[in-house]
Amino acid sequence: MIKKWWMEAIGYQVYIKSFKDSNGDGIGDLAGVYEKLGYLKELGISLIWLAPFCDSPMDDNGYDVRDFYKVNDNYGSIEELKKLIEKAHELEIKVIMDLVLNHTSDEHPWFIESRKSLDNKYRDYYIWQPPKYKNNLEVEPTNWASFFGGSAWNKDPITGEYYMKIFSNKMPDLNWKNPKLRQEMYEMAKWWLEFGIDGFRIDAASHLSRAPFIDSTISNDRYVGDWSKFSNLARTHDYLHEMKREVFRKYDMVTVGEVGGGASTKSGLKFASFDKGSLDMVFNFDHNWCIIDDDNGRKTDVIGLKKVFSKWQAAMATRGWNPLYWLNHDQPRLMTQYGSLDYFKESGKMLATALYLMRGTPFIFQGEEIGMTNYPFKKIEEFRDVSTINPYNLELANNPDLDKEKLLLKYAKNSRDHARTPIQWDDTLNAGFTTNEPWIGINPNYKKINVKEQINDTNSIWHYYKKIFSLRKDLKYKELIIYGKYKIVDLENEDIYSYLRYNDSKEAVLVINSFRPFNTNFNLKPYLIKEQILSNYEISHIENDILTLKPYQSVVFVVKIDKKG
Ligand code: GLC
Ligand code: CA
Repeated sequence: MIKKWWMEAIGYQVYIKSFKDSNGDGIGDLAGVYEKLGYLKELGISLIWLAPFCDSPMDDNGYDVRDFYKVNDNYGSIEELKKLIEKAHELEIKVIMDLVLNHTSDEHPWFIESRKSLDNKYRDYYIWQPPKYKNNLEVEPTNWASFFGGSAWNKDPITGEYYMKIFSNKMPDLNWKNPKLRQEMYEMAKWWLEFGIDGFRIDAASHLSRAPFIDSTISNDRYVGDWSKFSNLARTHDYLHEMKREVFRKYDMVTVGEVGGGASTKSGLKFASFDKGSLDMVFNFDHNWCIIDDDNGRKTDVIGLKKVFSKWQAAMATRGWNPLYWLNHDQPRLMTQYGSLDYFKESGKMLATALYLMRGTPFIFQGEEIGMTNYPFKKIEEFRDVSTINPYNLELANNPDLDKEKLLLKYAKNSRDHARTPIQWDDTLNAGFTTNEPWIGINPNYKKINVKEQINDTNSIWHYYKKIFSLRKDLKYKELIIYGKYKIVDLENEDIYSYLRYNDSKEAVLVINSFRPFNTNFNLKPYLIKEQILSNYEISHIENDILTLKPYQSVVFVVKIDKKG
């Protein structure tokens, strides 16, 4: 069996801007992360993924890089980063960085050059195309939409050509066909590894190549959201394999690629199988939106969740490894998405139990460990995210009569900004995040939901996360929980998510989770219960082999394997 340090790691995503402000300018920074390393250690974290910290005009919070070799002024200095990494290593915490390969900022010197003329030395670092004409009218080179609304192309007045940008106008896509560009990117990645970084979360990893520039026919929209035109294409794998040969292979490091929506397990394996992959793990989005929203209200699609998690568990069972994450900085908050505010503690703990005892490496999104919730956005001015503001404005511009309130609700529902409000450290001014005006609103529930309160309360979600992590490290269970196989139990049950972790030993771990605010029953008859090792309730009600789960109850048993059965 393949065993690696990163398989045993407990990961944590630090969205620097919202983590901790150390100098009172309202913006989280590296010194703030440094200050809280002890906190992360105490929680049981052994790997942090730092959101982009390179110099950037911050159109997309640092995913628009202006200088790959410089730390963003607002975040601190390269010396502070060095100090942070050294301290983390002292605490046995690995540090991986967000590596943005698909695009740069339009303020990157390469792009400033590239746009100057058709024959500029850097022209080919980006993707340029002349306009097309339909009925004598100029149109974009293709009808493809961008992820952040509008066209995937933007016209540049200097040469009259269009550059491709699958995110915002300020994020021109790099041309990975160009071997010179690729070499520059490999050098940059090596530079950071030499600096002391332990690996990469590779941003938008699946988008490095494009289909031939032909209009999409999947709809008649002015701009067609046909992501297949730039996702998971064959060439992308060639590039990442080259990068592995030239960079990754030479270091003891870890890579997690963001392959996003639409990636099948087949392409997941192409990216990250042990034998043929270029990466160690991939983040897919399949489980992010398992919600049933109909006349009966809104609830978690438990069967849907089971199907997608089990699909990825099966795909990677022997040939690869999954990162385990619920939601990240691009989605709403976990508690609002799949938990319950009425059963706050119970559901917060249940969600951790349901996911972090699967096979894979956990990645907690900051604030999840205290059950942070969505922000009650009321005005468009409260948003900061380009992928909320731009499409909102576009829609309003195209349709000025729209009911603004309804439009706001539509965008507020799933805005990425929910995840980006600052960590609620305590119940003092600005939740202890900053002494000044924060760059984005602080969730008004911080007096109730905050780190300090939860550390003081041994029955809190925070303490429960810590318990789960120690269980993963406990020598008694480690082999089963980290390396054991996964098997779904009772797939058809609409309310309960249960699964087994097992290997060749005589014992298995049975994990049972209710996703509902009412009592539900689970049949224990097929199992020889040895002991209960975890629950988010004090009492587990078992009668005649029926376990009655209270709202959002989780119970974890060690069971004996009956070799006959
Ligand atoms: C990834 C990031 C997201 C960013 C986008 C463009 O999806 O997670 O935050 O906006 O890439 O870099
Ligand atoms: Ca600051």
